[in-house]
Amino acid sequence: MTVRRCLEIFETAEAAGVSGAELFLGAAREALTARGRFTVALSGGSSPIPLFRCLAEEAPRAGIDWRAVHVFWADERCVPPEHAESNFRLAEGLFLSKLPAPGAVIHRIAGEESPDEAARRYEADLSASFPGEEIPVFDLLLLGVGSDGHTASLFPGMDLDGFSGRNAVAVYVEKMMSHRVTLTLPVLSSARRIVFFVTGAAKAEIVGEILGGSGEVHYPAALVAASENHVSWLLDREAASGIVNP
Ligand code: 6PG
Repeated sequence: MTVRRCLEIFETAEAAGVSGAELFLGAAREALTARGRFTVALSGGSSPIPLFRCLAEEAPRAGIDWRAVHVFWADERCVPPEHAESNFRLAEGLFLSKLPAPGAVIHRIAGEESPDEAARRYEADLSASFPGEEIPVFDLLLLGVGSDGHTASLFPGMDLDGFSGRNAVAVYVEKMMSHRVTLTLPVLSSARRIVFFVTGAAKAEIVGEILGGSGEVHYPAALVAASENHVSWLLDREAASGIVNP
């Protein structure tokens, strides 16, 4: 599988956030022109904060019909939407609540339900939102990477093949003692545009292994590869400091 990786390194996370917001809005314009709607799955965690802040600033003057923008999540913690750990809560507070009324179409993962019920409902939403697509194809997928090489809530050691036939599953993450709902690897890899947004010195080692190493690493974040699509890595200098030969 040939994966074209586009690597951009910025002095700061904020500068990476500006570029990420520009990429998001560009992908939105492209999709709205080509298909009349824009489907995006957001990552969780704290890395996307600078990007969400930029989007909130740019959104009112972006000239985008947000009513045709469908926002999903790559994963969600199994907590209520108002919980501090909720990925929805973070994106809603920083970005989605700042959009011009009536805002985007939100496809929240029901973290307040039981994990299996939340996954079932999310899969039903995906089927309804992507009619005729066995594997939903997002226009844009925004992902982070954990220092252990996980992405979304696909962690090293998980039997990713065991999720075959599923687009979203409930998982229990031992090390975090938390239940989560996550998109599965085939869905992540099918996106038209994949952007890893990774910042901070704590990610330098794993980013160096994934991008600068032999390429034989098998972390979930390294397995998200779209054969004909574009995988971009937006990094700040700290996160990129472990790459030997970019
Ligand atoms: C989550 C994310 C997860 C995240 C990484 C990085 O729900 O936590 O989807 O995959 O992207 O853990 O997290 P940080 O951005 O907080 O370092």
